Amino acid sequence: LTKDRYPIQRGQYAELSDKDYAQFESILDKNRVLTGSDTQGHNIDWLRSVRGYSNVVLKPKTTEEVSEILKYCNSRKLAVCPQGGNTGLVGGSVPVFDEVVISLNSMNKIEYIDEYSGIVTCQAGAILENLESKVQEKGLCVPLDLGAKGSCHIGGNVSTNAGGLRLIRYGNLHGSVTGVEAVTATGQIMNLMSNFKKDNTGYHLKHLFIGSEGSLGIITRLSIQCPTASKAVNVSFLGLNSYDDVMNTFLMAKKELGEILSSVEMIDEVSLNCSNKVFNGQSPIDVFPFYMLIETSGSNQAHDEEKLNEFLRKAMESSLVIDGVTTNEPGKMRNIWLMRERIADSLINIEGYCFKYDISLPLTHFYEIVPATKERVGDLASFVCGYGHIGDSNLHLNVACKNFNQEIYKAIEPFVFEYTSKLKGSISAEHGIGFHKTKYLKYSKTPEAIAFMKQIKELMDPNGILNPYKVLPL
Ligand code: FAD
Ligand code: MLT
Ligand code: ZN
Repeated sequence: LTKDRYPIQRGQYAELSDKDYAQFESILDKNRVLTGSDTQGHNIDWLRSVRGYSNVVLKPKTTEEVSEILKYCNSRKLAVCPQGGNTGLVGGSVPVFDEVVISLNSMNKIEYIDEYSGIVTCQAGAILENLESKVQEKGLCVPLDLGAKGSCHIGGNVSTNAGGLRLIRYGNLHGSVTGVEAVTATGQIMNLMSNFKKDNTGYHLKHLFIGSEGSLGIITRLSIQCPTASKAVNVSFLGLNSYDDVMNTFLMAKKELGEILSSVEMIDEVSLNCSNKVFNGQSPIDVFPFYMLIETSGSNQAHDEEKLNEFLRKAMESSLVIDGVTTNEPGKMRNIWLMRERIADSLINIEGYCFKYDISLPLTHFYEIVPATKERVGDLASFVCGYGHIGDSNLHLNVACKNFNQEIYKAIEPFVFEYTSKLKGSISAEHGIGFHKTKYLKYSKTPEAIAFMKQIKELMDPNGILNPYKVLPL
């Protein structure tokens, strides 16, 4: 249990009684109130790093039901944990103790697709991959893609302001989400839906719900601007000898590929090995210390290929890139992407445990933290590796080991956060703060900013029932 691993005490919340179960069953049908063994999967996170012991999971279908549940929980001072697809990587999506889980799994309607504006309206529990398939039928694409697309919800993505593999092209969700509907802790329905990108009518309240990880309200519906799907897509997978070559290849890619650049990822040798070993993948090129995955998306294959070939010619001529393959065949592109997307999954399955860090760092110092961490943890770790969204200055630093233990934990934390803070980086680039990083928020936010966040929390959730022990330092 989480409380046995980390020094944390249950807050002063009420405990569930028979009366509460009866009340939940009167708001929802009986089969949407899960108890006992049916709650198991909802109590443990994807990383197997946080495990609560909630005995109830509620599965509302409508915003009104969410509102009724929250009104009731607030009046009883019952703590709640909003849950989407439970793919979050910072322990925010599961109970720490016995919080009531409110799962958005049954709120998965895709309501309306406006093919002219590209604005799509849906319930928060729509699975990202399903949303992508639906909008593709109209020639659009969701401006967000990530390895967890088969399970994560669009509402979970918005609640974490997820970044993903194409942020360099489409920007983050604060820009693409045109509106949200959310229910506050007291059960108030905040309709902040808008079908327009341009809407400067007072305070932009929707942003309070985007990226606040279920601590200020439960997102029930949203609208998002979906761009036109690209007609021409190419993927290059490149081998490089050093991190400096990676950085300079990125610079060259921006200059040469300009507006068609849609993804720039970096993978180190250890990360690629791990993904291919666990999932039986096959690299299309030889072994290198570093790899880059570069994707272009445009509307004219001949034009894009010409640019890409010119870029590759220059990169190879200047010896930045040593080897590489380029393809526009869907199956081959998919295989290259799979090697990259499966790294996270391979890392949690190869040993016994994986400490994950998701940091923003200046590109001139981007990779140094990987060897520095390796040196620091020495034999305590099985291996240390780094990969990530170099196009957005976002590194994923991972430390794999046989099992979680206090010795290695203390060797890595706060070391990684202090290192990041000295370089004026961000201690969480895209995964959020969740349960794991609350005490490190101070490395990225001033005391005044944290105090202001606490004031907002008190205003919107006076009893502190929404996702306690998460986001804000205790
Ligand atoms: P959950 O994990 O269920 O919840 C995440 C947080 O949001 C929790 O705090 C929860 O309480 C809250 N929440 C969920 N739904 C709601 C709601 N409707 N209203 C209010 N609060 C809510 N992240 C990236 O940014 N980029 C990546 O490239 C990326 N790749 C990933 C790859 C893999 C294989 C995995 C497992 C995860 C990855 N992630 C990535 C982590 C990422 O945060 C999530 O996958 C995703 O955004 C979370 O969505 P979810 O529906 O699973 O939310
Ligand atoms: C990714 O980019 O693959 C994800 O953010 C997950 C991870 O950090 O491993
Ligand atoms: Zn990522």
